[in-house]
Amino acid sequence: MSETGADAPPASIRPWTEADIPDVRRIGWEAWKETYGAFIPEADLRVYHDEHYSAEALGRNLRKPSMRGYMALLEGKPAGYMIMSFDRPAGRCHVASIYVHPGSQGHGLGSMLMDEAFRAAREAHFDRVWLGVMSENAKTTAWYRSLGFTFVEEAPFTMGGTTVRHLIGYRLLVKGGT
Ligand SMILES: CC(C)(COP(=O)(O)OP(=O)(O)OC[C@H]1O[C@@H](n2cnc3c(N)ncnc32)[C@H](O)[C@@H]1OP(=O)(O)O)[C@@H](O)C(=O)NCCC(=O)NCCS
Repeated sequence: MSETGADAPPASIRPWTEADIPDVRRIGWEAWKETYGAFIPEADLRVYHDEHYSAEALGRNLRKPSMRGYMALLEGKPAGYMIMSFDRPAGRCHVASIYVHPGSQGHGLGSMLMDEAFRAAREAHFDRVWLGVMSENAKTTAWYRSLGFTFVEEAPFTMGGTTVRHLIGYRLLVKGGT
């Protein structure tokens, strides 16, 4: 259960900056190991992380006008992040990446980040938000479904020498609402 009562540690979100890159790498890696370690060997995770989550790759994404990133803070310290892409030509808005550090999950940070994704997508006049999730990641797939996502496509996803099934889905945005 998320802690959202008066005793919950204070949580907030803000846009990412270049200075957040080491925290994005650290949070992502710890969450990957815990979430994907059961079905993807760590060496394969490392290959993919080194390539797509290097400081250089994240810096390039940070500077792209089509990408936006947000940090979630717990008691003022970075504990989660979400990266979105706005693909105008394809008419698609994606949550490309959303991770909360394993020690900070269940405090409402993921929900805050996802609410921000819905808000930013609506503001940019998209009618839905797309994302992908590995089908073995059953807990998060169930969480997305509880948020209103419907999975409509399936595609293989390769990390190093391992290929897994990847579900792709969207959540419609209601005008004037969430
Ligand atoms: C998925 C993730 C981003 C969610 O972030 P989080 O901060 O742990 O989530 P929250 O604390 O905001 O929880 C949100 C709510 O969903 C609920 N919830 C969690 N899992 C659920 C599930 N499987 N089904 C239904 N509800 C669920 C929680 O109880 C909470 O409800 P509440 O607010 O009514 O108490 C985070 O757990 C994470 O990083 N997981 C591992 C990595 C991952 O899978 N990332 C996505 C890859 S595609």
